[in-house]
Amino acid sequence: MSDVWLPSLITSTPQEGYELAVKMSRVAVKMTQPDPEIRAELRSVYEHDANSLILASSVVATHFQTIAKANAYWKA
Ligand code: HEM
Repeated sequence: MSDVWLPSLITSTPQEGYELAVKMSRVAVKMTQPDPEIRAELRSVYEHDANSLILASSVVATHFQTIAKANAYWKA
């Protein structure tokens, strides 16, 4: 993955920041497991597993903390 996919952590709104957090989470999965067929297989497992979905939310929440801080909590 040599393309620039994360040019900035700065977003206009908290919602855009949250969407970026989801993207960052998903990119990590893609870098870790580059095979799309394996990802598709595993998707059908985790989409039915409440604990996996809660863990996915938690990873997104961690990225969102970083993004929110980088954007000074959109207070300006
Ligand atoms: C779909 C998020 C982990 C494979 C999705 C979608 C979201 C998402 C939001 C729905 C996309 C849509 O329908 O528009 C996440 C997050 C994860 C995570 C936040 C962990 C932090 C994983 C893992 C795998 C995986 C571990 C497999 C190794 C897929 C696949 C799809 C999918 C194959 C459906 C196809 C696609 O939309 O690309 N995921 N996911 N995800 N996820 Fe995940």
